This record gives sequence, structure tokens and C-alpha cells, in this order.
Amino acid sequence: MKGIVLAGGTGSRLWPVTKVVSKQLLPIYDKPMIYYPLSTLMLAGVQDILIITTPQDLDAFKVLLGDGSQLGISLSYVAQAKPEGLAQAFIIGEDFLNGDSCLMILGDNIFHGVGLGEELSKVLPENGAHIFTYEVADPSQYGILTLDQKGSPLSIEEKPTSSNSNLAITGLYFFDKDVAGIAKTVKPSKRGELEITAVINQYLQNGTLGVTQLSRGTAWLDTGNHNLMQDAAAYIRIIEERTGLKIACIEEVSYRNGWVSKVGLEALAKSHGPSSYGKYLQSLLSTKGE
Ligand code: TTP
Repeated sequence: MKGIVLAGGTGSRLWPVTKVVSKQLLPIYDKPMIYYPLSTLMLAGVQDILIITTPQDLDAFKVLLGDGSQLGISLSYVAQAKPEGLAQAFIIGEDFLNGDSCLMILGDNIFHGVGLGEELSKVLPENGAHIFTYEVADPSQYGILTLDQKGSPLSIEEKPTSSNSNLAITGLYFFDKDVAGIAKTVKPSKRGELEITAVINQYLQNGTLGVTQLSRGTAWLDTGNHNLMQDAAAYIRIIEERTGLKIACIEEVSYRNGWVSKVGLEALAKSHGPSSYGKYLQSLLSTKGE
């Protein structure tokens, strides 16, 4: 299975902050936003990952993350010329996917919960599609999934004004090898985007859509506007300070997955200089990796 982080977009709700820098490069407390979705894919065991971003931001992401070899993973990059919708990722990423299935995550989605990586690797199917829902207080802000009486997916509505369901579809999706072909059949919506909902709907109609409802113990945070960004940073800071453990430390995930040796981790720690992040990496050297 391959992975895609979709980290383009205009970030217009964050203007002027995102006029010259990608939303996904902005800090959420002590690390760039993209570390969070990237670590989620890594926790699910994905090592071959494509980062899709805007033409103007591409080089900055490359400087930040390189080819991934320092983390024992492979990172590729491709530009999305215009933000023409989430489903365009599968068309742009078709060569990268090369007929493999993929786990895609939005660059501004943060997932945090004990055992999340293990849970992900357990529920992902061989074929079809799989989405993850989360109970929300205000369904009118999200793509909402309605289930039938047996708990199977019935329908999806984009930002419904009224709905019997409060299950928001989160920005983490699994699709099988057919996804690029399906994305190519999608017509732009009224807002001119290739909607991911249209792709999910095709799997729903074929009867091959699976759903996992994320437990209440998992946090799903979106970081699309100023308040949400500050809330997310506060959440991360509080948990990290209480536990002394970092959330979404990609170097730690690689070390614990056995993808980076102690020597590799030491080099990563050194490359972070005297920052608290570097000191944290240094402190991991006295712990066991895998
Ligand atoms: P959105 O939050 O829907 O859009 P945005 O990030 O451009 O922000 P705004 O609404 O404030 O203008 O996007 C969700 C995620 O998907 C975000 O990480 C950006 C990414 N994205 C792309 O990479 N390409 C796209 O074509 C779109 C629509 C979004």
C-alpha cells in the first residue's frame, strides 16, 4: 500500500498568513503541520509516500523532508497546478500509485489516539474503499455519512443544513487500485472541484465501501482557520507537556517502527541542533527502538 499526503490548496481562510506559505508548513505548536498527517501514514505502516502540493510550495517541502531516506521511508513530490479538488490527487498521483492501493490523508488533518496506527493497519481491506468517521457537534460543517439500520453506509451528504446523522467523514481514506480510473469519471462540482465524495459514492454504490467509526478516545482536529489552528496547538502542547512525549514526531515513529537505527536517530537528533525537538530526539537514544 502506498500513501498520499494532499498538502496543496489555497488556505484562503487563513489569509494573509497563507499568502506566501503553505498552510501545511505552518507550525502546530512545535512542528510543521504536515508532520501530523505524515506520521499517521507512517503509524499505519506506509513507507512509500507521495506529497502533493502547490507549484510554489514544492521546493520548501523538499527542503524540509527530503527524499525520506533519513527516516527509512521514500518521499516523492508532485505539484497540483490548481486546487481543483481532493479527487484530483488520484489522477495526479496515478503514475506514483502504479496500480497499487493507497491511504490518502489531507495535509491539515490531525489524528491522535492510543493504538491508532495498529487500528488502521487492522481495518484496512485488500479491496474497495474505507473511510473513517467521527462524531461531531455541528454536522453542517462536514461531509456527513448516514448509516442504515444494520450500520452499513447508506448515503453521503456534503455540509447538510439538517441531518439525522452526526458522523463526519474525516480526511483519511483508503482506496484500492481502481481509484484513479474512478476519479477520471468524476465531473467537476458546482464549485468547480473534483469532489472526493463523488469517488466515495461510486464505491458506496458498488457495495465496496467500508466504514470505521473512530472511538471517542481518538482526537480528530482540523486546522483550517485561525481558531482551529490555535486550538490544535494548545491540545498538542498540553498533552506533550503532561506526558513528556511528543505527538507526531516522525523521527520517533521511524525509530519505533525499526526503520531507523540508533545511529540514524543520533544523526537526526544532531541535525536539529539545540532545539527542544532536537533534545527530545536525543533523549530517545536511551530508549529501545522497535
Ligand atoms: P480545504 O480546507 O478544503 O481547502 P484549503 O486548504 O485550500 O483552505 P481554504 O478552504 O481556507 O481555502 O482543503 C483540505 C485539504 O486538502 C488541505 O490540506 C488542502 C488540501 N487540498 C489540496 O491539496 N488540493 C485541493 O485541490 C484542495 C481543494 C484541497
